[in-house]
This record gives sequence, structure tokens and C-alpha cells, in this order.
Amino acid sequence: MAKRNIVITGGAGFIGSHVVRLFVNKYPEYNIINLDKLTYAGNLDNLKDIENKPNYKFVKMDICDFEPFYRLMQEEKIDGIIHLAAESHVDRSIKDPFTFAKTNVMGTLSLLQAAKLYWESLPEGYEGKRFYHISTDEVYGSLALDSELFREDTPYSPHSPYSASKASSDHFVRAYHDTYGMPTIVTNCSNNYGPYQFPEKLIPLFINNIRQRKPLPVYGKGENVLDWLYVEDHARAIDLIFHRGKIAETYNIGGFNEWKNIDLIKVIIKTVDRILGNPEGHSLSLITYVTDRLGHDARYAIDSTKLQKELGWEPSLQFEEGIEKTVRWYLDNQEWIDNIISGEYQKYYDSMYSNL
Ligand code: NAD
Ligand code: TYD
Repeated sequence: MAKRNIVITGGAGFIGSHVVRLFVNKYPEYNIINLDKLTYAGNLDNLKDIENKPNYKFVKMDICDFEPFYRLMQEEKIDGIIHLAAESHVDRSIKDPFTFAKTNVMGTLSLLQAAKLYWESLPEGYEGKRFYHISTDEVYGSLALDSELFREDTPYSPHSPYSASKASSDHFVRAYHDTYGMPTIVTNCSNNYGPYQFPEKLIPLFINNIRQRKPLPVYGKGENVLDWLYVEDHARAIDLIFHRGKIAETYNIGGFNEWKNIDLIKVIIKTVDRILGNPEGHSLSLITYVTDRLGHDARYAIDSTKLQKELGWEPSLQFEEGIEKTVRWYLDNQEWIDNIISGEYQKYYDSMYSNL
């Protein structure tokens, strides 16, 4: 295997930490640089098991800072970028869209321009280079309950400030291929779940609230439908696509695993109650219906046939198995979650759920 110098942005976050771990363990001959600003969502505790590996380095940097990133590319002779750094939570985007435009749009553009200038300055140009941008299925908008799934050629129709910022960054990435010939790839994935997810997101939030006997705030009627994928399956897809995906292509990544929120919440409750030794149904009374999220999309569902057919990827875990592993991980790693909850995040939680 040839040596490669790869920057993974957002490697201290949820999905990024799984991608960093996979690459560091699987490719000892690579030089893996985890570039992360360490916002509220970045946590180096996610990577304790690999932080001393010789092929791993952490660099604290904001993706919006063009000059330092350009210098890093030169110094480390970067030939691959896997870009996950982003503001990622829809609720926060509704409160503060500017931060989402800054990081997700301008930050992505800054990385693209630095990569363009550096790679075009080399004798071999773009040969052997790759800019791989990780995006979301939310850019496609909202599906009716009886309609088809999102395919790679589904037109973009983002609704939330988060998905609008991700859609914009996807367009910039494709524009750098179409205009300058940069070897880019974009993937759009459904909702991920698994260990190390920041506990403002539905699944870790609810597991932890059940443990702490706190209310479970269900937005609206809980009838929105999402497609869920275990995070390590997403990381495996990213590895495969980074190495074997076709330049300029888009791949959808999803598990054909749609759940109505309220049904998913009942599965979580059942699993947590069983593992904690509570009687069946014990925590159902914690369910609390609250005001719906503004602009809440009715349904996301992704068709990942192209990835399955062209590159042979498929999810490795059945949902029941994935949820069992996830619930056990959060219950077994209470210190990880308590460290987050005891800090700044508590203020956010109190402001979001003050009426409960
Ligand atoms: P996350 O919020 O857990 O992690 C984001 C990481 O990016 C954090 O470590 C944070 O410190 C870092 N970051 C934020 N702003 C930065 C900046 N300006 N400079 C450098 N680093 C910065 O997010 P996640 O859930 O792991 O999502 C990762 C990527 O995958 C995002 O691009 C997201 O849009 C995409 N995605 C997420 C999901 C999902 O279900 N979580 C699904 C599909 C796609
Ligand atoms: P979330 O985990 O916040 O992911 P995303 O930012 O990608 O939307 O939300 C997943 C779904 O769960 C979404 O339909 C909103 C809903 N939800 C609740 O009902 N209650 C909550 O407290 C949260 C955080 C989310």
C-alpha cells in the first residue's frame, strides 16, 4: 500500500472519530492528521485508544483559517482530505444560522481553495489527490410517507439552515471539480447512531435521560421518519469510497432502515429498561410531547443501491444489534457522558428544555 498523507477534518467529533480510528488502525503506513477546532462537539476523549499511535497526529485548527491550513498542506504534503468538520445539529442551526454558514460553507470553501492552490503548484498537479466531502441526506429535503427514496439524482431541496449550509458546501465541492478539475467526491448519508455521539442528539440524549429519570422530549407527535445507520458502517463506507470511489461521483449511504421517531424511542426505552433491570414499560411515562422543531421535515429515506452495486458495500449490523451495542456503550461509559454534561453543555440543555 502506498504511503499517503491524509487530513481528516472534524476527527474529534462523532463520525470523524470513528473514521480516524479506522484509518489509523487499518493503514499503519499512512500519515493521518486529525484537524479539529474542538468546538463544543469536539472531544479528544473519543480517541484515547489511538492517540499515541505513530501514524496519528492531532492539529487544533479552524477550517476557516486559510493560511495555516495552506501551510499544513505544504508541510505535510497532503494528498487526501476527508472533510467532516461541520456544525451538525439542526436545532442549533435554527437558533444560530450564521455559525453554520461560516463553518459549513466558508470553511469548506477555504479548504477547497487551499487544496487547489497547493495541488496545482505541484509538478504532478491533481494526480493521486482526493478531496472527499461528507454530507447528509437532509440536503434532499423532505419525502412524503408513500414516495420513493432519495437517489443520487434527487434534486436538492434543503429546508433547515443546517441542510441549506450543507447543500451549499456540496455545490462548492462539485464546482471545484467542474471548474478546476479537482478530484472530488461527495457522499450523502442518513442519520448515524452509535458510541461517541454528542448527547444533544436524540439517541444518546434519550438513553442518558432514562438513566437519570429525566423527561424524554418528543418533538411534535413523534411521527417524523428517519433512516438510521450504525456509525461504524458509515466509516467503512467512507474508507471504501475514499479508496475506490469514482472521481466526481456522488454516493448515497444508508441502511434501508426507516423508523418513525416514536417507534424508535420505544425501542430505546425497552432496551435501556431491560439492561438496567427495570420492569418492561417502566420508562414509557418519561415520554413528554413538546413543541415541534420549526420546519421539521416529515421523512428522510435514502436509496444506497448505487454504493451497494458499484462498490459492494452493505451495512454489517442489523438495527436491533446496533441499538443494543449503542445502549450498552452509553450505559458502560457514563464517565464520558458525565464529563460532557458537567460542562458548558448544561447551559444549552437548560435553555432548550427549560419548560419540561
Ligand atoms: P459532530 O458535531 O459530532 O462533530 C463535528 C466536529 O467538527 C467536531 O469535532 C467539531 O469540533 C469540529 N468542527 C466544527 N467546526 C469546526 C471548524 N470551524 N474547524 C474545525 N473543526 C470544526 O458531527 P458529526 O455528527 O460527527 O458529523 C460529521 C459530518 O458528517 C458533518 O459534516 C455532518 O454534516 C455529516 N453527517 C452527519 C450525520 C449524522 O447523523 N451525525 C449524517 C450524515 C452526515
Ligand atoms: P437529532 O438527533 O437532533 O438529529 P438531526 O440534527 O439530524 O435532526 O434528531 C433526530 C430526530 O429526533 C429529529 O426528527 C428530531 C427528533 N428529536 C426529538 O423528538 N426530541 C429531541 O429532544 C431531539 C434532540 C430530537
